[in-house]
Amino acid sequence: MHIDKIKINNFKNYISTEVRFSNKINFLFGNNGAGKTNLLDAIYYLSYGKSAINNFDSDNIFTEKSFFKIEGDYSNNLSYKCTFEQPNIKKIFENNDKYSKVKDHLGKIPLVFINPYDINLIRNYSSERRRFFDQLLSQIDKNYLDNLIAYNRLIKQRNAYLKSLSSIESIDRKYLKVYDEKLIKLNYYIHKFRNEEVKKFGKTFNKISSELNKSKDDFSILYSSNFNEKMSHEVYEKYLEKDFYTKKTNIGIHNDDYMFKMKNKLIKRIGSQGQQKTFIISLKLSEFYLLKEKLLITPIVLLDDIFHKLDDIKIKILINYILKDEFSQIFISDSIEDRLNEIKKIIKQVKIINIDKGKINEE
Ligand SMILES: Nc1ncnc2c1ncn2[C@@H]1O[C@H](COP(=O)(O)OP(=O)(O)O)[C@@H](O)[C@H]1O
Ligand SMILES: [Mg+2]
Repeated sequence: MHIDKIKINNFKNYISTEVRFSNKINFLFGNNGAGKTNLLDAIYYLSYGKSAINNFDSDNIFTEKSFFKIEGDYSNNLSYKCTFEQPNIKKIFENNDKYSKVKDHLGKIPLVFINPYDINLIRNYSSERRRFFDQLLSQIDKNYLDNLIAYNRLIKQRNAYLKSLSSIESIDRKYLKVYDEKLIKLNYYIHKFRNEEVKKFGKTFNKISSELNKSKDDFSILYSSNFNEKMSHEVYEKYLEKDFYTKKTNIGIHNDDYMFKMKNKLIKRIGSQGQQKTFIISLKLSEFYLLKEKLLITPIVLLDDIFHKLDDIKIKILINYILKDEFSQIFISDSIEDRLNEIKKIIKQVKIINIDKGKINEE
């Protein structure tokens, strides 16, 4: 899959822009703050119906405007359009048909975005890692997404009930049991799915990371959960007192984590910046292969400032890696001219897109 053309209005620092892309390698070149990441984020937006960087859509609107619009023409002869209007109206269209739900768009244009903010996947709390795997697994299985939405709704309601209680004696156990029986079933399904898929993902991940990592840093991913498939709804009775005092549900897949390890220790603790970066790149390339295998479409790949903090050897390995035939369209952004010249030498056909303060110049 590739995007042939994008049209952007009022998105971040682009007021009105139209660009055509190469179906192979596109190189976005410009100084810091020029708008390279913003352009990549606009391409991401068309795939996921949200920004990879800002949680609040209103932050993506060009200052003092009241809406933004992003339109893309794709190689499957379809065009997609995302619009957002203040205060909070988001619409996504395939050709000119509006989706009734944003989630129906998920998986139509598979895309993998590697950007400097990914380091948060390593450094931040488990919720970041859950979000990464949930987004991936939701694209490959709609049933997973539906079950996850149902689970999150039930947990929210159960926690609201726990918060509303004034004393432990006032708990209506029959009422809670209705929740608990439903939650156990969903826990079972989601836990099993995560466990199996992460095992498969881990195999691909190990292969890629040892290829990118000639120094054998021994990376691994371990799924960890306080739920196990042998539990019944009685586990909630056991934890009821704790749930009451902490005002939340203590057992369940909403607490899961994925441990990112190097030599059996958390890479967060012992990994250098370069090692953490190689970990993230391996993670995202595994995402690429999983999406490709399950959706039977080659995802678009966005590489934002990916060479920064990598040594020359790693950069060479990486460039040669992405030149494999398995990849389709790739976007690379960088602000260093030497690196652009180096890439021009290795990659014969590359479209250069010069960016300066939200203005685009195609070569
Ligand atoms: N909503 C917005 N309205 C106007 N400008 C914005 C908005 N969001 C971000 N910007 C501007 O975009 C620029 C950063 O662009 P970015 O794509 O991150 O640059 P880079 O080329 O370094 O990747 C900054 O100058 C920032 O002020
Ligand atoms: Mg940037």
